[in-house]
Amino acid sequence: MKTIVINASPRKRWNTAQILKSAYEGAKSVGADVEYIDLYDIDLKGCMSCLVCKSKKTEKVKCYWRDDLSPIIERILEADTLLVGSPIYFGKPTSHFRA
Ligand SMILES: Cc1cc2nc3c(=O)[nH]c(=O)nc-3n(C[C@H](O)[C@H](O)[C@H](O)COP(=O)(O)O)c2cc1C
Repeated sequence: MKTIVINASPRKRWNTAQILKSAYEGAKSVGADVEYIDLYDIDLKGCMSCLVCKSKKTEKVKCYWRDDLSPIIERILEADTLLVGSPIYFGKPTSHFRA
């Protein structure tokens, strides 16, 4: 079983990361193939509002723009489990989570 764990906190050792690392260890302990990603280490563009993804000719869920997140999205689509953790800043998940 493939599991991807994404930390959408800018802090790599604080609350969100600690919870996610526990989940990572738990998944590993039952034999899952687990990948842990710190989202703030990734160079990502976010939505460019080009609307290519809405075109009927475009493959579903695929973004036209390539960045460091693109291969991770490919792996997420192949994964069995996705865990994403984010702190709440002013009532919302972080900007990287939303991007
Ligand atoms: C700028 C800022 C805004 C925050 N806004 C909220 C909020 O609206 N609601 C909330 O419950 N916690 C809020 N918090 C608290 C964080 O979500 C909380 O401390 C979280 O565990 C931090 O995650 P981290 O340890 O991964 O950095 C805020 C923290 C910061 C730094």
